[in-house]
Parts: sequence; C-alpha cells; structure tokens
Amino acid sequence: MRKIGITETVLRDAQQSLIATRMPYSDFENILSDINKAGYYSIECWGGATFDTCLRYLNEDPWERLRKIRKACPDTKLQMLLRGQNLLGYKPYPDDVVEKFVELAIKNGIDILRIFDALNDPRNLEVAVKATKKFGGIASGTICFTISPVHTLEKYVELGNQLRDMGCDTICIKDMSGIMGPQEAYDLVKALKENVKLPIAIHTHCTTGVAPLTLLKSIEAGADIIDCAISSMSGGTSQYSTETMVYSLRQLGYDIDVDDAMTKKIADHFVPVQKKGLESGLLDPYVMGTKTDALLYQVPGGMLSNLIAQLKQQNALDKFDAALAEIPAVKADLGHPPLVTPTSQICGVQAVMNVLAGERYKLVSNEVRSYLRGEYGRAPGVVNPDVIKKVLGDVVPSTDRFADRLAPAFEATKKELGAKAQSEEDVMSYLVFPQLAEKYFEYRKNPAAAEAAAKAEAEKKAVAVKYSVRRAD
Ligand code: CO
Repeated sequence: MRKIGITETVLRDAQQSLIATRMPYSDFENILSDINKAGYYSIECWGGATFDTCLRYLNEDPWERLRKIRKACPDTKLQMLLRGQNLLGYKPYPDDVVEKFVELAIKNGIDILRIFDALNDPRNLEVAVKATKKFGGIASGTICFTISPVHTLEKYVELGNQLRDMGCDTICIKDMSGIMGPQEAYDLVKALKENVKLPIAIHTHCTTGVAPLTLLKSIEAGADIIDCAISSMSGGTSQYSTETMVYSLRQLGYDIDVDDAMTKKIADHFVPVQKKGLESGLLDPYVMGTKTDALLYQVPGGMLSNLIAQLKQQNALDKFDAALAEIPAVKADLGHPPLVTPTSQICGVQAVMNVLAGERYKLVSNEVRSYLRGEYGRAPGVVNPDVIKKVLGDVVPSTDRFADRLAPAFEATKKELGAKAQSEEDVMSYLVFPQLAEKYFEYRKNPAAAEAAAKAEAEKKAVAVKYSVRRAD
C-alpha cells in the first residue's frame, strides 16, 4: 500500500482563504495538542499572509505565535509558505535579509519551507532554498501552476530540475487558483516524477470545484503529499476536506497515518470559529460556493473578492465583467505571469485601471512600472513591447537579478532600531513590515492604551471588514 501524507492547512491557507487570515492564536490554542497527535505529514501554520495579519490586525508577534505552536506540536513537522526573495512581503529583499529570515524561521520552529516565486524565476528561489539547507530545514521548491502558451510540460520539468539541483528535498505544485484540471495534474506529476525524481506535494483550492478530482489523479500519477483542510474550514476558496480525502483514499487502498478520532475533534473545534467568521462578515458565504468563472478567466478566488472591493470603492461595480475579462489580457501583456501574490494584485489593479480609465495603460501603478523594469524577475513569456514603450518610454528593462542591486540591510537596520528591537526577530519584523512592526512594538509597550486608541480609530473608519484586501497564495 502506497503511503500518502496529508498537510493540514487550517492554521494558514484555510483561514487565509476563508476569513482573511484573522484567526487569533486563542482560536486554536486548545486544539494544538490534538493537531500534533493527528498523524499529519505536516501542519502548515505560518507564512503567507499570517505574518502580516498578526501584526496588522491581531496584535500578535508572529514569531511568538510560531514558538507557541512549536511547543504545543513537538511531534509533527511545521510548515510555512515563503514568497521566495519577497519573503512574506510584496517586493524583493536583499540576500542577507532573506538568509537571516530563513535562519530565524527555522530557529523559531519551522521544519519545512515551501518556497515559491510568482514568476517561477529560479533566481528568486535560490537564496532561500540554499539558506534552508544551510540551517537544517526541509526545502520544498515550488512550481506555480498556470495555463498559458509558454507554460509547457517541458518548462515545468526544466524548473523542477533546477529546483532539485539547488538542493530542494521535495517539489510542490502550487495551484493557487484551483484551475489545474485532473488530466493536467496527472501529466504534470508524472513528468516531474519521471524526470525530477523527488517527492511531490500538491496544493490546490476548491474554488472551481475541480480539486478532489485533481488530487486523486495527482496521486494516481505518483504524488506523495496533498494539502487538505479540516472539514469545518474546507471548501470554497479553501482546500478540500481532510476527512473526506482520507476516507476516500483509504477506500482506494492508500495508506494514511491520519487518526480519525483526532480529525473529528479538530473539525468540531473549528465549527464555532467558522460560525464566528460568518457572523462577523469575514467569511462571506459567497466564497463557499463553486465558482467556475476561474476556469475561464484563470484568476484565483482571492482576486475576485478584491476586484469587487476595488470596483465598489470606485462606485463602478457595473464594470465587473469588463474588469474580469481584462485580467487575462493584462496577464498576456505582462508575459503570462502566474497569478499569485504579488502578481495577482499587480494584474488585478492594472485591469481595473485599464477599464476605469477607458484606455489601456493610460494610468499605471508603480508596481506595474517596477514589473516592466524587470524588478520582480524574469517574466515567463514575452512582455508586450508596445506596453513597455508606452509605460517606460526609452527606459530599457533590466535583465539582471534585481536583488543583486540591493545593499545588505540586516545589520544596518539592527543598529538603526537600537533598543526599539528586543531581538533579531523584531529587526526582521521591522524589515519586512516597518510600519506594522512599529505599531506592534508600541502596542507591546502598553497594550491597554494601544487598544483604546485603535478602538477609537476603528469607530471613525467603520469600514466593513469583508471588503478588505485578501491575498491569494
Ligand atoms: Co493556497
């Protein structure tokens, strides 16, 4: 019987996809020891948007959260999602910062780093992968899946081989939009197994409803690990249900370590958390349904809600269909980047600007300018030269690795912060999210005063939480 490992995503992607990553530590503290004993291959619990929202909304130190999870879960591997050279932010960081971040993540409890780059540019993965191996972690090199004329099986295999040669221990196929069909998954897993010869993990979302078929065909083709979310936090824009997958795979003769009594307890624990999300408006019942539009437009679920939010702000919800149709056009102009943080935001915002301005690329975001200058990395395909000309004029896009131009920053920032930072982890929080970290340092000094001030601020704004920006990865 072939063994299949289950990665449980409830603490990271499931809550990121359903409730905008607003789950405080107190919502899962009491279930950690059961999650630890459930027999998962790994627990995805950190990275992605969790770091940002811990500081921005939850007044939690993300490092302290990680240490607490590690203490409560000594027996199961802890996993994080890292945006390659962009770490947990939205732009590239210098190499010394990337290396230090990986060192600290492992020191504070992470075992597996799943490392991706939105453009699948290996130059943006290499420093993080090498650092992971240097500090004793498990490196899961990630291939972002998208559908385009330039994303061929050969190209994916080439990237898989590059990831293996860099030192990756496993390869993850990351389908952030839930658009990978069962046959595509089968062919891709088979090709990677035959050529790259590393264990394969599959990450997908239920957005379009195709996920369980895709997971099954991936396993038939040889995939070793799949990402699932406990049933009460599964479905919709989240992952497919853990218990359903375990039940089905066992019936088909696969060997799975997961303990059913434990998953029952974990599922029951998260029922009130889901209910609280619905009541607060953070969990919009809309995202729980099946949305096949993504199969046509190939946009991640998070992008759809962002698009609605942006258009509502501009009082232009009637342009929704036009903006949705503009996304693939922008994606093609930009050389077919997979749509995942940060390219999903870059393409989404530009699509809205194109539609609202009534002229394409008349208004351009700073991020699109940086992208066209080559600062995010190498586009998978050819970038439309007319767009480059219109936006950059005579500036020639650079083909070097952008991070090579960035001066080392960790030691200088540590010095600059002085006593404000109590640890290297504080310095890192500040480097990745300066304003948020400062706000958190203030909060930490006097939580009661900071909470009173924040409450007054929130009442002034009274912005509905459900329209806030969601990250897709
Ligand atoms: Co995801």
